[in-house]
Amino acid sequence: MGKGTVDFSKYFQPPNLKEAKKRGKEETRVLDFDTIPDDMKNIGEGKFYLLKTYGCQMNVHDSETIAGILENMGYRPTEDEHQADIILFNTCAIRENAEDKVFGELGHMKPLKREKPDLILGVCGCMSQEESVVNKILQKFQYVDLIFGTHNIHRLPVLLRDALYSKEMVVEVWSKEGDIVENMPKVRQDGLKAWVNIMYGCDKFCTYCIVPYTRGKERSRQPGDVLAEIRELARKGYKEVTLLGQNVNAYGKDFQDQHYDFADLMNDVHKIDIPRVRFTTSHPRDFDDRLIEVLAQGGNLVEHIHLPVQSGSSEVLKRMARKYTREHYLELVEKIKKAIPNVSLTTDIIVGFPGETEEQFQETLSLVEEVQYDSAFTFIYSPRHGTPAAKMEDNVSEEEKKDRLQRLMDLQNEISRKKNEALKGQVVEVLVEGESKNNPDVLSGRTRTNKLVNFKGPKSCIGQFVDVKITEPQTWTLKGEAVVKTHV
Ligand code: SAH
Ligand code: SF4
Ligand code: F3S
Repeated sequence: MGKGTVDFSKYFQPPNLKEAKKRGKEETRVLDFDTIPDDMKNIGEGKFYLLKTYGCQMNVHDSETIAGILENMGYRPTEDEHQADIILFNTCAIRENAEDKVFGELGHMKPLKREKPDLILGVCGCMSQEESVVNKILQKFQYVDLIFGTHNIHRLPVLLRDALYSKEMVVEVWSKEGDIVENMPKVRQDGLKAWVNIMYGCDKFCTYCIVPYTRGKERSRQPGDVLAEIRELARKGYKEVTLLGQNVNAYGKDFQDQHYDFADLMNDVHKIDIPRVRFTTSHPRDFDDRLIEVLAQGGNLVEHIHLPVQSGSSEVLKRMARKYTREHYLELVEKIKKAIPNVSLTTDIIVGFPGETEEQFQETLSLVEEVQYDSAFTFIYSPRHGTPAAKMEDNVSEEEKKDRLQRLMDLQNEISRKKNEALKGQVVEVLVEGESKNNPDVLSGRTRTNKLVNFKGPKSCIGQFVDVKITEPQTWTLKGEAVVKTHV
């Protein structure tokens, strides 16, 4: 594909799972984003970029940073592949089908790249952190120009320069845990709701999960930096922030010079004048009483907790290395429900983990029944190369896995519907995001508990909080009518 002989030694720091698993004890360095080098400042004038983002909110937010860096070099966004001068795939590695999708789309890029050899085609995000993926791209997708990982997004201007001026594929993936880079430019995609990273990485090493390898060790941002970012968003008129971390409950545990944890952070965020604050994701193990107490204050701390359980069987949880039991999880749920009576709980569940028996799956069903989640993300277990679970004997047939997923979804849908039915006739506060996707005459927004509400109302409501009376609850959405406040 016109790449000539490839000499990777210059750039290639190959990703390595074994290296990633050795967690360094050294203190995390907080660095400031270098300004864009002079020769790259206007390189994108008159040119366009297209970013394709897969995966979780963390990736969505990383894409906002990537967009920020590209726009600081003069590039403008486009949705049109044919108009784009740069196409970047910000990828997710969590399950095999996520990866297959990216490889499929990368394959589709081949004719475009042939038509337009100057197009820069790049792959970043979690898949680039995997050795096997990088090797596959090197072999099968040689027309890719640039691969970089999750720890070196800030190096994009320099890497892009290399990709533009070199005939070789530029690969820079750091398997060593990253530092924290502050003050990176960002183009936020939403004017109402903003993502705020509070920590990076994950040290939990659940046996099925690739994230600790693709995102490095746990590193918490300094409280002052997080709080300043939220205050600035509030000043700019944002109505909602979502604090991001793979395991937000571990926030601050890596600080060596101060005692300040997630409950402290939430307590300080509670005092900031921004209407709604969410966070994701919570690990049940570190969810302590103090945090429950802080969250129970309400105010801008909304009554929605996403609390992934993964399985209802203590035996399976043990093999997943989740480090809690079914009983501990249920106790925690009880405590949360007692402290925050109108709380909405959502979860993630994996079915068909290696060796999961029908009885163990039944324990998941009974836990779901007992907790009464508002909704759940449900997944079939997908082996991830290099993780401990990938080496366990996977004796659950594909058919059985699909059947379990279906039974679980049927049960959860029934519960979701019942929970939504209970809202009929109630008035809820909705942050109006815009017109509904399917009908421009209908407005759509979310409750404090993150439920989607569709209702008829004037467009002037967009961006505002509106009281909506729920008239027609459905399984996944609520229909309602705006309550007009009359003053007698
Ligand atoms: N950090 C978050 C989850 C990140 S991944 C947490 O710990 O809660 C989101 C969800 O994907 C997980 O909660 C899990 O349910 C699912 N998941 C992760 N690895 C998976 C795998 N190998 N196969 C299937 N589902 C997986
Ligand atoms: Fe993965 Fe577990 Fe970390 Fe979540 S806590 S990112 S599931 S290893
Ligand atoms: Fe996927 Fe990486 Fe997020 S693997 S789920 S994009 S942290």
